[in-house]
Amino acid sequence: MEKKTLFSEQTVKIGPDSGYDNYIMAIESSCDETACAIVKNGREVIANIVASQIKTHEKFGGVIPEIAAREHLDAINIIVQEAFDQSELKPEQITAFAGTVGPGLVGCLLVGLNAAKTLALVYDKPFIGVNHLNAHLCGNYIDTDIKPPFMALLVSGGHTQIIDVESYSKQTILGETIDDAVGEAYDKVARLIGLPYPGGPRLDKLAQLGNPKAYELPEGKVDGYNFSFSGLKTAVLRLVKKLKAEYCDAEHSELPENVIQDICASFQEDVSKTLVKKLKKATKERGYNQVVIAGGVAANSEIRKKVFDLEKEGYRVNAPAMKFCTDNAAMVASCAYFNTNTFDDIDVEVFSRVK
Ligand code: KG4
Ligand code: ZN
Repeated sequence: MEKKTLFSEQTVKIGPDSGYDNYIMAIESSCDETACAIVKNGREVIANIVASQIKTHEKFGGVIPEIAAREHLDAINIIVQEAFDQSELKPEQITAFAGTVGPGLVGCLLVGLNAAKTLALVYDKPFIGVNHLNAHLCGNYIDTDIKPPFMALLVSGGHTQIIDVESYSKQTILGETIDDAVGEAYDKVARLIGLPYPGGPRLDKLAQLGNPKAYELPEGKVDGYNFSFSGLKTAVLRLVKKLKAEYCDAEHSELPENVIQDICASFQEDVSKTLVKKLKKATKERGYNQVVIAGGVAANSEIRKKVFDLEKEGYRVNAPAMKFCTDNAAMVASCAYFNTNTFDDIDVEVFSRVK
């Protein structure tokens, strides 16, 4: 594809058909990670810097948008400089600058997107705006040779979708959650059993120590490829109340460790089974032989295990490395390179919800 530089309006070829090596610098700041990366030809990571704000938000039990935006502002210049240093490239050697446009927290997105736009303007390079969800999917192209078509399960803090990826740019959402996203359900259940933020990864660790068959929990019954997790969340709430009545008294206000591990394992078993069942059905129905998972929750041990079990049935399975599952900028650079529904207009505005 062809893109224009911003001042001199020269045409620059970008993407697999450009005929030369592309180095795309991308910035991601949609939530609580300030990230900058440089990726060669959409797949090879030359620099990857991520500054996490977990420590800041931990004490509040969740991300505070205004504080997150300020921290992005403090970090952004340092992170960009670190990415240049790590790559040993000069700004002039960058083919194009990319930034996440949305969905995400508006104040946070503004910081990274404006930094990317400014770099593109100052160095007279094309600007490429990227959708955060498409970027998560493109995390699968990093360090691999996997190409569409494939079926994708996108699971993050805000989204749960089964996506038919026909080509780099053509994707159809076959189903999504009608209430909570998987990551959200993990975080809520984690809070319910008293785990600190961020709950998802902590719940996953405890689940690995428990018995997944300890408690029977309901499977969200929704038509087609849609999901529902709010019923499951309520069932865990009831279970915790019942167990507390059983185990806790004036002296013991907390549930025993093994009981907590069993709750986590049973919840994790329920969620992973539902997700992978629908993913497999969609893949079969479409006649694809490749499946991928993406998004922060793709870092989950049991979801990964169940998806990789599909290899035994002859499917090619891919999941980004852990550091490319959670928010990062390498996936954004890859998305810009492969032209996955990008926004090229320098005037593009950030957006908070899915467009
Ligand atoms: O994709 P992501 O980094 O941010 C969004 O775009 O939402 O996903 C963050 C979500 C959080 O809800 C977090 O609890 C969850 O991913 N998460 C996990 C695991 N690692 C991160 N959930 C379950 N198990 C994990 N290992
Ligand atoms: Zn994300």
